[in-house]
Amino acid sequence: MKKSVQEYQRQFARFFGADRAFVFWKGRVALYALLRSLNIGDGDEVILPGYTCVMNVNPIKYVGARPIYVDIEPETFNMNVSLLEEKITDNTRVIIAQHTYGYPCEMDTIMNIAHSRGISVIEDCCLALGSRYKGRMVGTFGLAGYFSSQWNKPYTTGLGGVAITSDAKLAERIESLRADEMCPPSGREVFMLSAQLMIYRLLIYPRTTALAQRLFRYLASKGAVVGSSSAGEYEPVKADDFFKGFSAAQARSGLRRLKKIDHNIAHRLSVALRYDRLLEDKGFKGRNYDGGMMRPVMVRYPLRIEEKAKALEQAARAGIELGSWFECPLHPIETPLASYDYEIGMCPEAEKAGREAVNLPLHPRADEEAVRKSVDFITGFTQAG
Ligand SMILES: Cc1ncc(COP(=O)(O)O)c(C=O)c1O
Repeated sequence: MKKSVQEYQRQFARFFGADRAFVFWKGRVALYALLRSLNIGDGDEVILPGYTCVMNVNPIKYVGARPIYVDIEPETFNMNVSLLEEKITDNTRVIIAQHTYGYPCEMDTIMNIAHSRGISVIEDCCLALGSRYKGRMVGTFGLAGYFSSQWNKPYTTGLGGVAITSDAKLAERIESLRADEMCPPSGREVFMLSAQLMIYRLLIYPRTTALAQRLFRYLASKGAVVGSSSAGEYEPVKADDFFKGFSAAQARSGLRRLKKIDHNIAHRLSVALRYDRLLEDKGFKGRNYDGGMMRPVMVRYPLRIEEKAKALEQAARAGIELGSWFECPLHPIETPLASYDYEIGMCPEAEKAGREAVNLPLHPRADEEAVRKSVDFITGFTQAG
């Protein structure tokens, strides 16, 4: 393993106070490695919120387990823990606590339920780098946590995933699984990803993001760039090269990002507060901090708008970076839900959120001007509507 990759793993684990960190090509690959290392397979059930990205469900299907969806709590978009126990059966092996948009889940309740039933908790921190629940960083409550550093995530190495754990047995099993089965990314993938990272650093600003995303998706569909997901990943069929490692180019980028992580977190916290203030001034309801028990480091600032499609269209024309995920219980909207054992009506709050949730930028390039413009757009749009 390259020195930069080892060093990135070491520094990542240290940041969380975890014993070990293991890097992978993507966040979904990290989840796959965790499920395999926990021997999750045929007949097992994995509980997760019915408001997620389908790429997060694929690993569950790949190992032969069944995803069991819990509806969300409307304010934080996280699993509604009062509905959790009724979903547990004798086959439940894992609960995935997904910290949606950066809001920490109710970890005390989840851990108590899981502990009393002998179930493992894996925390999905792909949208929540640095969030804290009762003062403790998310990712450190469960048996393991996993992170993503894909383009849209709290910080980016282009693509990337990390699993952290302080459980020595689990760490040993991940290590041997990697040694036995993991393949390296191809030279072409690494070259293209490095070029994309350079372009990202030079060209992406709030005003150009929406256009760049459209261009990126088009080029990815033509195979001209390394996309976040391939066409085959919208059905639960595992590609031969799915279980892929992390390149030295990603590790070098990650090491640079880790140096600025405190600044990144401070920026996200302060811009989110700014949105709270500006939106509350205009009569919008602010975020819920659950009596100060949580410190959410959000990936994006979520809001609800009834006429979502119209807002997205107008925002794109006005150069406002308005995000639309998650569009449905298993984002994106094109997901063949039945292939993932989801039936319409299973999670009504999540379905409603999919119709209404939009989000505003918090990334390091979202400055005061972008924030003000976004808020003006939202308030103008809702008043006009
Ligand atoms: C909540 C959540 N978990 C996991 C993932 C998977 O991350 P990655 O794209 O790095 O595989 C995503 C992807 O968007 C996600 O939104």
